[in-house]
Amino acid sequence: MCGIVGYVGKQKASPFILEGLKRLEYRGYDSTGVAILQGGAFSLVKKTGRVANLEREVAKFNLNGTFGIGHTRWATHGGVTDANAHPHVSSDGKIALIHNGVIENYSSMKKFLVSKGYTFSSETDTEVLCNLIAYHYAKEPEVVGENRFFASVRKTLLHAEGTYGIVTMCVDLPGEMVAARKGSPLILGLGDGENIVASDVSAIVARTQNVVYLKDGEIVRLTPKEFQITTLDQEAVSPFVDKVTWSIADAELGAHAHFMEKEIFEQPLALENSMRGRFSEDSSTANFGGLNLTASELRQVDRFMFCACGTAWHACLVTEHLIERFARLPVEVDYASEFRYRNSPLDRNTLFFVMSQSGETIDTLAALREAQRKGYRVLAINNVVGSTIAREANGGIYQHVGPEIGVASTKAFTSQILLGAMLALYIARLRDMSFSDGVTYVNALKGAPDLVREALKQAPHIKAIAKRFAHHSDFLFLGRLSLFPLALEGALKLKEISYIHAEGYPAAEMKHGPIALISEKCPSVFFAPKGEIFNKVVSSMQEIKARKGPVIAIITEGCELPPGLADEVITIPDCHEAVLPIVAAIPVQLLSYYIAVDRGCDVDKPRNLAKSVTVE
Ligand code: G6P
Repeated sequence: MCGIVGYVGKQKASPFILEGLKRLEYRGYDSTGVAILQGGAFSLVKKTGRVANLEREVAKFNLNGTFGIGHTRWATHGGVTDANAHPHVSSDGKIALIHNGVIENYSSMKKFLVSKGYTFSSETDTEVLCNLIAYHYAKEPEVVGENRFFASVRKTLLHAEGTYGIVTMCVDLPGEMVAARKGSPLILGLGDGENIVASDVSAIVARTQNVVYLKDGEIVRLTPKEFQITTLDQEAVSPFVDKVTWSIADAELGAHAHFMEKEIFEQPLALENSMRGRFSEDSSTANFGGLNLTASELRQVDRFMFCACGTAWHACLVTEHLIERFARLPVEVDYASEFRYRNSPLDRNTLFFVMSQSGETIDTLAALREAQRKGYRVLAINNVVGSTIAREANGGIYQHVGPEIGVASTKAFTSQILLGAMLALYIARLRDMSFSDGVTYVNALKGAPDLVREALKQAPHIKAIAKRFAHHSDFLFLGRLSLFPLALEGALKLKEISYIHAEGYPAAEMKHGPIALISEKCPSVFFAPKGEIFNKVVSSMQEIKARKGPVIAIITEGCELPPGLADEVITIPDCHEAVLPIVAAIPVQLLSYYIAVDRGCDVDKPRNLAKSVTVE
């Protein structure tokens, strides 16, 4: 939600900020803006819509300053208007501010500021924060050992309830910026004679790979040559300078039309990266050093709890199936947003996991904190290195799939399933899975990238199917067992990027409600893999067909459907049960992608969505 970039340095700030905003656009794309400090005042340009609009607007001004801030917004308080776009400037013109998060007590602050003569030109909580800094700046005398601007930001934040990642500048202090975070990510990029602060590393890596991940409750003062971090309570913090392991090329589109397409086709490589170095030498089990648990500690676990949101929640459901199936231990999966409030009773030997691509989803983070508060060790399966969840978890597994930029998650999803399958194997081998079954399982997982390559070859066929069905406005996705979560994911993908109403259901459960929707206008996408439930799924298809519903069947090689039952058939390679959900993801990702493209939708930036939801 919202992307922010601040630059203090020796080069013109606006081109760098605009470039950074483009990379952060996946975080929010309602409206954008920049403020550059030049000639003793802020030059402010704000525009609704995408960064491209802002870029055209900026070109009309002479923005030469080397200190500036920029923002791409996902609206919370106040509609999508130029006035509500960030940066905000205080009514006395002294302070400019960008903000990611929500200030919950903004209305009492606003009342106070109005009584002091401050005026407001937007409906945002951010403008209130900005004016409160200005108020403290105007009122407070110089604080010993702290400059007045820094002191006024600190004082304001001590009053602020809610979440924030902010970057702010004062008109009297060119070359200085203050940034702080509580609940929204902020990262410092340490360059040569320039410093950057941004919501994520993608806006930084073009200039430097040296980064510092700010923690909640920290505030930093930045100039082109130095930075000092303290806590809001004025404790000094010694920064840990990390090195980003990926380069700018990883976050570029290359020859692809969309990031989603790029990320779908990157999956064989992403899976290889996720599993690299994580199998035992005898190839009979997985190794996860990052769990920080010994084998005997893991043996004490008799139940697992997984929390996540969105697509990651679907990956948890697949993991549930695999752990229960292979390790024979009970697993519970909950939406993080529900878990955090429902005070779920957990028993002593439960091991708690959260899954999150970004590592910043606020509900998932809150679930992690709630479980830790109850005394649980919480482990995370997470892609973004250094993210808040990665840092706060007691251990975990990094996905290593590189930056995922398309808002609809694809490669992170299949990697989460892979890691869930590896976890199931690891636990199963500590219990009663035999050495030879372990070897078979490992070999199957090692073959996953090639099977995905094979499945991707269906792209032209799926594109043609997409064309045939793109005009429909309702879809059902139906699957059973480990492919029921894939039905949910197929429906979610289609909804997210093509705005078609879609529901995912267990195939047999379909007759208890969704069947009422069936007509020639509502296609059903079935997962019908080889195995014990194949015939049952075929019966469900017959029920749909009898009501004139079009059937798109995703079958595994070697399966035969009764003639004329399916309107379209997509064949994926036959594979081990642990790999099947990964391979089965490919056709539904491609189907939703091509349908969205056919309908002319903005695939990478679907309306109303954001990649990383950092508000409740
Ligand atoms: C948002 C995204 C989804 C994602 C979900 C969880 O809703 O649009 O694609 O699955 O957040 O994100 P996370 O980063 O926690 O996996």
